[in-house]
Amino acid sequence: MKKRILSGMRPSGKLHLGHLYGALSNWIKLQEDYECFYFVADWHALTTEYGNTTKISADTIDMTIDWLSAGLDPAKSTIFVQSQVPEHAELHLLLSMITPLPWLERCPTYKEQLREIKMRDLHTYGFLGYPVLQAADILIYKADGVPVGEDQLSHLELTREIARRFNSMYGNILKEPQAILTKVPKMPGNDGRKMSKSYSNCVFLSDSRENVQKTISSYITDPARIHPTDIGHPEICPVFALNKVFLKNNAEIETLCKEGKIGCVKCKKYLIQEINSSLENIRIEREKLCNNRDYIVDVLKKGSLKAREEASKTIAEVKEAVKLWNMA
Ligand code: TRP
Ligand code: SF4
Repeated sequence: MKKRILSGMRPSGKLHLGHLYGALSNWIKLQEDYECFYFVADWHALTTEYGNTTKISADTIDMTIDWLSAGLDPAKSTIFVQSQVPEHAELHLLLSMITPLPWLERCPTYKEQLREIKMRDLHTYGFLGYPVLQAADILIYKADGVPVGEDQLSHLELTREIARRFNSMYGNILKEPQAILTKVPKMPGNDGRKMSKSYSNCVFLSDSRENVQKTISSYITDPARIHPTDIGHPEICPVFALNKVFLKNNAEIETLCKEGKIGCVKCKKYLIQEINSSLENIRIEREKLCNNRDYIVDVLKKGSLKAREEASKTIAEVKEAVKLWNMA
């Protein structure tokens, strides 16, 4: 039997190259060897966006279009929307009963976001419970593996701790998942900071050829290079970080840059070409999908039903273990 994989992303609008190379391309590969469940974490979006919820449903569709055009395949994976599987909420509630507050209060992502995000009030019950909801997402499918980036490891550890606590109290029902740590290549935006929508420094999967050209042309490079003959330092250049991902001959370019034998304009031209050709298939698929929104909705509906079937099995076992009154 194939091992089971589960992962989710919050619907945050269109995806950029950081998402593609950080998570999505890995999700796509895993489809071949595992039984995969991938979902839009719209309830998790609410934990921070509860004050302005108007974009969440459109973002759900847009992100699904990005997923499918990049190669997530509904014939191979179950692709669904968290809020369409209310069993996640039921398990979340039960897990919240046994999760000690200090486990949540000491969570590094919680402390960091409270510090960093000043625009919204995150002193809510829902936001504190973010990792409990994530634990429910994972445990309800008895997932073997969860592909995540480094930033999510603390949530995975918490999930394992919650599973252990549940099992020791009520019997051995939940499975402790393994984190599958995704190797994330460095993917800076045009200002040299991490690529992120909130910095407006991204190349999006849905960008046209012209937009890719514009964004790459606007990248800062090694500030020591004024003339193409100046000695360059590719290791500090954000363009070179992308070269390493996209250009087969990046070692050659590295040498040329260090010797002052290639100008930044030319270097960027190679990169633009490669990014554009790697996005070409995605563009073709997107074209088909954008004209067929009914199909997207259908994928999410069918996926959510299938997910629900699996989630219901675990919930039934969990309720029996907790010994709540059962009408049946
Ligand atoms: N917290 C994850 C993120 O921000 C999203 C997420 C929600 C998730 N539920 C999950 C990831 C379950 C993996 C498994 O990236
Ligand atoms: Fe960066 Fe390329 Fe310019 Fe070197 S030549 S500084 S790697 S953009």
